[in-house]
Amino acid sequence: MTTKYNICLLPGDGIGPEIIAEGVKVLNAVGAKYDTEFACEESLIGGAAIDAAGEPLPQATLDAAKAADAVLLAAVGGPKWDTTDPNAPRPEQGLLGIRKGLGLYTNLRPVQIFDALAGASTLKPEVIAGVDLMIVRELTGGLYFGKRERFYDEEGAGTNGAKGQRAYDTLEYREYEIERIARQAFEAARKRRKKVTSVDKANVLETSRMWREIVHRIGETEYPDVEIEDLLVDNTAMQLINRPADFDVVVTENMFGDILSDEAAQITGSLGMLASASLGDGTALYEPSHGSAPDIAGKGIANPLAQILSVEMMLRYSFDMNDAADDIRRAVTNLLNDGWRTGDLKDATTPADKVVNCAGMGDLVVKYL
Ligand code: IPM
Ligand code: MG
Repeated sequence: MTTKYNICLLPGDGIGPEIIAEGVKVLNAVGAKYDTEFACEESLIGGAAIDAAGEPLPQATLDAAKAADAVLLAAVGGPKWDTTDPNAPRPEQGLLGIRKGLGLYTNLRPVQIFDALAGASTLKPEVIAGVDLMIVRELTGGLYFGKRERFYDEEGAGTNGAKGQRAYDTLEYREYEIERIARQAFEAARKRRKKVTSVDKANVLETSRMWREIVHRIGETEYPDVEIEDLLVDNTAMQLINRPADFDVVVTENMFGDILSDEAAQITGSLGMLASASLGDGTALYEPSHGSAPDIAGKGIANPLAQILSVEMMLRYSFDMNDAADDIRRAVTNLLNDGWRTGDLKDATTPADKVVNCAGMGDLVVKYL
């Protein structure tokens, strides 16, 4: 009997609609092979939702996401909606809202090198050889979700009477939030090389000192087989490009994880290749690690591979379809080895007839499947 899954599609903005179409193409091809129907339905998020409904995350979208078996998101944001007005809606609020609304506290961002693309990195080949790391970013707490405010300080309190605007953001964690993200990191490490690097700023921040204590307690009592390394976030930024192959699982606070995952992505030289999974207790969400690339939106030239590799993660984490996921990874590896490239991946040695557009890349993945 055919298995049926409901997928909530969130194309969002910029190149979003173009790349998600290729993700769906690949999903359907895999479904046909493994006797599985993926029933896809689109909802609005981000700037597209602001334009159509006046808000970045309409209730109908959150409801559809909750009801689905998995969510596939493309990208949100663009210059059209950029503003520093604290009262204007922003596309990113849609993304943050759906992460919070679905309780997606774990964000997995794997960073692997495809050998065929090793030359794309700005780092030396011997530095990036063997890089295979996973950033486990806490996604629903910390600096992103703490109390914040901007106001006009009538008294100029604490500044010798200098009146003016004031603003603050708060970094706050509760014990259970750190316990559960630590467990996710240790579980991931158990399936990998059994090492967790816990990143904090314990020499300055109280949240970090608590973070460090809790990560050690969980690790030492529940995962004695996994090695724990503590690293300050500034030092991590350095070590990630100094000795990237030494890292296995990196677990960290929301904001630190946001910054470090962009840096880690650049180790591979191709942000267009990196997928991510956001997991919680209910429906999971899968999205590329890159943004909406408004500069090339609508031209049909975007690289859909990060979106397609997000489909790979969906098959693995939401549906336990590991063979199908392996098929996608193999197809992408093989077509890259055969020299196929999208515009962002090509270099001086790429023959013109090996450069394909967005839809062309989706077709190639299906063909190699
Ligand atoms: C990411 C993005 C988002 C984040 C933005 C778009 C809100 O940078 O997924 O890394 O900061 O989490
Ligand atoms: Mg980011």
